[in-house]
Order: sequence, then C-alpha cells, then structure tokens
Amino acid sequence: MAIFDIREKNDFNAIFYHIKDLSDQANMSVVKQTQLITAVCELMSNALNYAGHGQVDVYQNKITEKQGVTVVITDTGPGIADLPLAMKDGFSTKNTLGIGLPGAKRLADEFWIESVINQGTCIRITKYV
Ligand SMILES: Nc1ncnc2c1ncn2[C@@H]1O[C@H](COP(=O)(O)OP(=O)(O)O)[C@@H](O)[C@H]1O
Ligand SMILES: [Mg+2]
Repeated sequence: MAIFDIREKNDFNAIFYHIKDLSDQANMSVVKQTQLITAVCELMSNALNYAGHGQVDVYQNKITEKQGVTVVITDTGPGIADLPLAMKDGFSTKNTLGIGLPGAKRLADEFWIESVINQGTCIRITKYV
C-alpha cells in the first residue's frame, strides 16, 4: 500500500506508474489498466479542482479471491451537496463536461463514494483483473 499527496497535476505521474506496476504484477490487461488510470485521473483532477489538494492510496487486492487493484482518492474540500445529481452525465458546477464522476464509475468494476458537506469526499474504485 502506498499513499501519495496530490497538490498539482505533476504529482499524478508517480501515481499512474504505481498503478501500472501493481496492475502488471496482477497480470491486468492493458485495456483494463487504461480504464483504471483514466478513472483515477478524472477523480484526482476533481480533488485538485474542487478541494485544492488530496490524498491517494493504491493497493493490490490480495485478500479476496478476486485479484485487482484498488485506488482511494480522498480530499478535505467542500464536499458534494447533491450526490445523485453529481453522478449524472453532464452535471457540472464548473461548466465543464460533467462526465468525470459517472465516467469513472462506468470504467471501474467497483465504485464507492462518500461525501460530506464542508468535510470532504472519499472515493474508492477497484478494477478486477
Ligand atoms: N472532490 C470533489 N469535491 C467537491 N465537489 C466535487 C468533487 N468531485 C466532483 N464534484 C462536484 O461534482 C460535479 C461533477 O463532477 P464531474 O462529473 O467530474 O464533472 P466536472 O468536473 O466536469 O464538473 C462537479 O462539477 C462538482 O460540483
Ligand atoms: Mg471532473
């Protein structure tokens, strides 16, 4: 398990490489690796855009019978007021595409989100091999 701080886009690369290393070790296909990394990129961008900074944990799922890689993206930003609305395609408070959250959910095999106003947002996604 590795924990990374993200404060700027430059911090993303080390995380992408770590995900790639763990995914390679788990024999995940390149297509699935790309889907996982794309989803993580969207969620880390949200943490930077809406909270200013965040924290990312990456680990391999070895305990369950299913092999995979899990990434947890946490921030202590403003939180999301209406989660069902934020999960809809096209919803954005920044006039951007509004497909980051719903897109990340579709790209992942497991997607769990918790967000508390004025406390922050935590998203855990898993891609199975
Ligand atoms: N980490 C976050 N903290 C606070 N608000 C967030 C966070 N992530 C997403 N949101 C809210 O959910 C909306 C939808 O996010 P997303 O689907 O990524 O689209 P976009 O970033 O293009 O607006 C954002 O506009 C924002 O209001
Ligand atoms: Mg976004």
